[in-house]
Amino acid sequence: MSTSELRRRHESEGYEHLASTSSRTEGSSSSQRDASYWSRFSQWIQDSCYQIMAYTVWDNIVSGFKPGRVRAFELLDIQSRDTVLLVGEGSGLDFECLPEQTNRAALKAFDFSPQMVRQCKIKAQQLDIPEDNCFVGDAQNLPFTDERFDKIYFPLSIASIPNPSLALEEAERVLSQGGKIVVFDKLVDDAVSITWRRKILNIFTRCIFADINRNLSIILHNVSDLKIIHYESLEGKLSGILTKPLGGFYRIAVIVRDRDFPDQPAIQAHL
Ligand SMILES: C[S@@+](CC[C@H](N)C(=O)[O-])C[C@H]1O[C@@H](n2cnc3c(N)ncnc32)[C@H](O)[C@@H]1O
Repeated sequence: MSTSELRRRHESEGYEHLASTSSRTEGSSSSQRDASYWSRFSQWIQDSCYQIMAYTVWDNIVSGFKPGRVRAFELLDIQSRDTVLLVGEGSGLDFECLPEQTNRAALKAFDFSPQMVRQCKIKAQQLDIPEDNCFVGDAQNLPFTDERFDKIYFPLSIASIPNPSLALEEAERVLSQGGKIVVFDKLVDDAVSITWRRKILNIFTRCIFADINRNLSIILHNVSDLKIIHYESLEGKLSGILTKPLGGFYRIAVIVRDRDFPDQPAIQAHL
């Protein structure tokens, strides 16, 4: 896809690209939700839906994503010395899929929804993760110093974060040298044109839980040095009555900094 095509699609996606946040002191975070009236309104509805779903149906609805979570951790390749960040962790369903060797004391997990974080803390306690390592935060404005994490994982969250480019910019800022980012979500491949039916459906899904029409190349277009080095489909790999048929819409991507892995070719977001 050419640069101008990418830019056109990026603009039509409606992400208002915000200025990058520079170095930050750990612990300080303020929300930067600078968007149009409609975006803010639909975001408010989405946040409210997550608050309700967190303590009602969420864990049951998404239980079938477990094989995807396991695969995402395989690709993240966590080593015992790694510091790990889970972005938009929700109710903590990834915790039970963490590889044995994960340094749980150094792991941080956050979500924008306080109710999700409440559930997340309960699961953390059960799985030897310090409760205080789970907190309410905004992926678009991370309360961490630069180059703080070796592995960063977006579990089904990049499609829900209002400005995914800004979230990946922030992830790049806090990613240590040679670190890795894994994104697991419903994504549209490069060069796939989005049907009107899907665009209309997206008006509703955006309000309830996520944008179903996001493309990773477009999201990454404005993020300086990140490149995709692996991209796969979860077709036939999910479980559960609700989620199994949806596997074909879900992708897992591995993203790194170009200067950290100059020999790894950048690939496009298609299969
Ligand atoms: C589809 S849910 C996935 C939850 C969880 N990761 C899972 O796999 O079950 C998307 C999550 O992203 C969170 N989210 C949305 N915007 C966010 C933001 N700006 N920063 C952090 N989390 C955000 C929502 O609160 C929600 O919990």
